[in-house]
Amino acid sequence: MTRIAIVSAMQEELAAVLALMQGQQKQTIAGRDFWQGQLHGREVVVVLTRIGKVAAAATATILIERFGVQRLVFTGVAGGLHPSVQVGDVVVASEFLQHDMDASPLFPRFEVPLTGMSRFEADAGLSRELASAVRLALPEARLHLGLIVSGDRFVSTSLESRALQAVLPDALAIEMEGAAIAQVCADYGVAFAAVRTISDRADDAAHGDFMAFIQTTASPYSAAIVAALLDRLT
Ligand code: ADE
Repeated sequence: MTRIAIVSAMQEELAAVLALMQGQQKQTIAGRDFWQGQLHGREVVVVLTRIGKVAAAATATILIERFGVQRLVFTGVAGGLHPSVQVGDVVVASEFLQHDMDASPLFPRFEVPLTGMSRFEADAGLSRELASAVRLALPEARLHLGLIVSGDRFVSTSLESRALQAVLPDALAIEMEGAAIAQVCADYGVAFAAVRTISDRADDAAHGDFMAFIQTTASPYSAAIVAALLDRLT
């Protein structure tokens, strides 16, 4: 049975998932607490990546190198970028891009130097199961599938989100970790999928009820989605 990791960036995002874990053992590496145990009868590793691309990439590397993880699932929140993606909607990634990667004119804007790639695909099979899990667990929620962009910025002005929409019109949502994990997983050939509940519209009101939204909505959403996903996976 392949090892699965369930990760979020922040404690508040993962609180409801951690509460459901059984027989967990903690191992601290590089200041991160890795919880190994059973969730819905499955062996999992659960960890907080911390916030931002470097923290997320380091956490993904540890999960793969030290825990032998072969499937990695991120669950958390994101800002909505595309006009159709509203607060409370759920986005499952089909691909990821680092919106703050720019080594032009040496390489095209957004391209990760020496990879020839700007977009990193989510694992198709795992993402399909994740989307099905969302539909089962949250039948009322509006579900979108598409591009999620990541960067080391919490986007909280309409000016910046409009500029990103203009240059990346198919981007559905924005966060700070996914594309970094996708790059690491692509390097190692590990399956990666991500689900994000939309907490804000990455505009001038983005920071408003952020923490309250995570606690009351996104964290229970994550627990329900992860439960449905683990029940579905073989
Ligand atoms: N995560 C949730 N909302 C976000 C935003 N507006 N910008 C970046 N990451 C986010």
